[in-house]
Amino acid sequence: MTTLFDSFDLSGLTLANRIVMAPLTRNRSPRAVPLPITATYYAQRASAGLLITEATAISHQGQGYANVPGLYTAEAIAGWRAVTDAVHAQGGKIVVQLWHVGRVSHTTLQPDGQAPVAPSSIQAKANTYLIDADGSGSFAATSQPRALNAEELPGIVEDYRRAARAAIDAGFDGVEIHAANGYLIDQFLRSGSNQRTDAYGGSIANRARFLFDVVEAVTAEIGSARTGIRLSPVTPANDSFDPAPQPLFEYVVHKLAAYALSYVHVIEGATGGPRDHQQGDTPFDYAALKQAYRQAGGQGAWMVNNGYDRDQAEQAIASGAADLVAFGKPFISNPDLVERLRRGDALNPGDSSTYYGGGERGYTDYPVLAEHA
Ligand SMILES: Cc1cc2nc3c(=O)[nH]c(=O)nc-3n(C[C@H](O)[C@H](O)[C@H](O)COP(=O)(O)O)c2cc1C
Repeated sequence: MTTLFDSFDLSGLTLANRIVMAPLTRNRSPRAVPLPITATYYAQRASAGLLITEATAISHQGQGYANVPGLYTAEAIAGWRAVTDAVHAQGGKIVVQLWHVGRVSHTTLQPDGQAPVAPSSIQAKANTYLIDADGSGSFAATSQPRALNAEELPGIVEDYRRAARAAIDAGFDGVEIHAANGYLIDQFLRSGSNQRTDAYGGSIANRARFLFDVVEAVTAEIGSARTGIRLSPVTPANDSFDPAPQPLFEYVVHKLAAYALSYVHVIEGATGGPRDHQQGDTPFDYAALKQAYRQAGGQGAWMVNNGYDRDQAEQAIASGAADLVAFGKPFISNPDLVERLRRGDALNPGDSSTYYGGGERGYTDYPVLAEHA
């Protein structure tokens, strides 16, 4: 029987186990540059089969929160190079999550204080995180966005392409295209945030067009085997809504099957919330989503996430429902999560007051099992 602790061939990259560290924003990268402490943080967690970094902005315009990292300056690429070197020195594997927040931003974070950009000029009922002049952090409502002109879209796709190349230059084993949680690509997908009347709005195929423009550009630049994608079919995160997610996301995975992506990463339910969260009239059928991908010939790994504990993860792997399971919050507070799961040991509780922003506390100071230390 296959277990969480068996190795996995991810499009030629050998993962030591099937436990993945989910992307986790930590707001500890001033001026969008990862610090040495971030290398320590990821290296501490390198026993995961795969690490997915925190969401990382592809451009200044793609920024939506204070002190999140980017991949669009030489300094940031050098900062990430120290991270990937530290992880590889521990035998780990690491991909970077490529991010454009779209409307989930604030004018103070945008170039020249401009309005954030979005498929349509509909403000998200959501908060972003800012750091004030005195260094204290606070949540603030997202700003009113302006709708992107179709002529601007190739420039954003080009930013994704350039960031994918920068990721390889920084030593990453690949990238994860962030198409989840109500950010730019997800804003195009869902009708709640996309009311365009051009080729990028209306029908499912039109709303998915931007996602495929990005997938095309990234895979052409660095190869499909180094490209994964994250989807969240029903999450309400960042005011994300669509009344008919099943046909929308089945269309997406059906078409993704034509690209030999390394993996498809699915957040089941409301991100960080109920796994049975529903949008539209019927519960979302994740098995049908996976089947749609496989039936269309999709061979990428199927990665699942959201609220998994050890038993649920073991079950998902043993039953073949998933190839890989991503853990988020448990990895924040348990650098040696893999070993703890292997032994069936208790997990450290996390301190949510240190999730976003700050320094070492709540970042690199969580204890590991004594025998493992
Ligand atoms: C502090 C924190 C930061 C997060 N940052 C990101 C992120 O940068 N990108 C992303 O796709 N999801 C992000 N998420 C969502 C997690 O990746 C994951 O989907 C969620 O925590 C549910 O998994 P879990 O129950 O194992 O924690 C974040 C969650 C938390 C708690």
